[in-house]
Amino acid sequence: MLVFGTRPEAIKMCPLVNELKGRPEEFDAVVCVTGQHREMLDQVLRVFDVRPDHDLAIMKPGQTLFDITSDVLLNMRKVFEHEEPDVVLVHGDTTTSFAAALAAFYLRIPVGHVEAGLRTRDLCSPWPEEFNRQAVDVVSRWYFAPTETSRQNLLDEAKSDDRIFVTGNTGIDALRTTVRDDYRHPDLEWASDSRLILVTAHRRENLGEPMKRMFRAIRRVMEERPDTKAIYPIHLNPQVRKAAHEELDGFGRLRIVDPLEVADFHNFMAASHLILTDSGGIQEEAPSLGKPVLVMRDTTERPEGVAAGTLRLVGTQEEVIHREFSRLLDDPAEYEAMSHASNPYGDGRASSRIANVLSRGALA
Ligand code: UD1
Ligand code: UDP
Repeated sequence: MLVFGTRPEAIKMCPLVNELKGRPEEFDAVVCVTGQHREMLDQVLRVFDVRPDHDLAIMKPGQTLFDITSDVLLNMRKVFEHEEPDVVLVHGDTTTSFAAALAAFYLRIPVGHVEAGLRTRDLCSPWPEEFNRQAVDVVSRWYFAPTETSRQNLLDEAKSDDRIFVTGNTGIDALRTTVRDDYRHPDLEWASDSRLILVTAHRRENLGEPMKRMFRAIRRVMEERPDTKAIYPIHLNPQVRKAAHEELDGFGRLRIVDPLEVADFHNFMAASHLILTDSGGIQEEAPSLGKPVLVMRDTTERPEGVAAGTLRLVGTQEEVIHREFSRLLDDPAEYEAMSHASNPYGDGRASSRIANVLSRGALA
């Protein structure tokens, strides 16, 4: 049984769902979504044509970590007791993943962790994701680590080497099919006379003042450079929307749009000059596309992209973001150095590797 609930988990689990469902002689794949996200989850399910067998539909406006954790834990118990899966697969670091893994652990069902071993080692950053991913790894039996670095993180915590499999990141599987040379979109037409900046922001620890600082820095830099336009597909969290509208309304060269379908977003990334974000998944996708990313966070669990030169951590202070964003726009050598494509997160065949591991008897 695969359990997931938010947009990024869906983007990275649907390729695996389809891989397992495509091998019916080996697997009976059952999908349970928690519905921690609603519209943003359903958008991804539609794109990958995945129809869940169970939907806990837990999302409520302004949900707290208490709501998500308790709703997922109690509802997963019923689904697990009904389905009695041999293996539960969860992904990454969300509260859905943590609570579903905990429910499986309480029922003594073995857990496989997809995207295991990412670490900042700071439980407050990102919050609560660093706790979630460490906690999932505590209860997991199998670790599908995207990179050698994540494998090493697990070994450092005395996880057994024969339970760790370096597979690449399933998020890259989707990128292979979505980016097209002939892609067109009205928003990209609008921006075609300028350098396109792509913006996203949603981290819980950045809600409120840090997010407003980010937005102020972005606006100031762009006001100083008339040859830039920005597109910001905004998260549906009302707190994010409030901060964005307070700081960005009235600035015509920055377009706030609804969340994009994943294929559109990948093509927007490919068309962009650079990206400003606090997202995790975007840090993995950008190196493959050779797009510079200023990561508006103090830490990253994705050091591979920093080592590859594509990512730079710029924190959440207005002056630092202003300085680094300006530098990347004004210094061609700096921009060139960050624009080389690389593949630290794998070759786009992670799902089939995970399926092969499950098939060849890791279940024993
Ligand atoms: C969650 C994850 C985070 C992940 C992010 C991806 C946790 C604690 N957080 O954070 O790790 O990076 O998803 O985007 O697991 N909302 C909607 N419709 C949607 C989605 C969200 O209206 O489709 C609104 C709701 O008001 C909801 C709020 O956004 O209460 C926050 O959603 P939530 O899942 O709690 O937090 P995220 O910031 O999305
Ligand atoms: N994404 C998308 N539409 C958007 C913005 C992002 O499909 O409008 C995709 C993006 O390509 C990446 C994932 O969503 O695969 C990242 O999700 P998010 O930033 O919400 O979460 P995180 O990765 O930080 O957990």
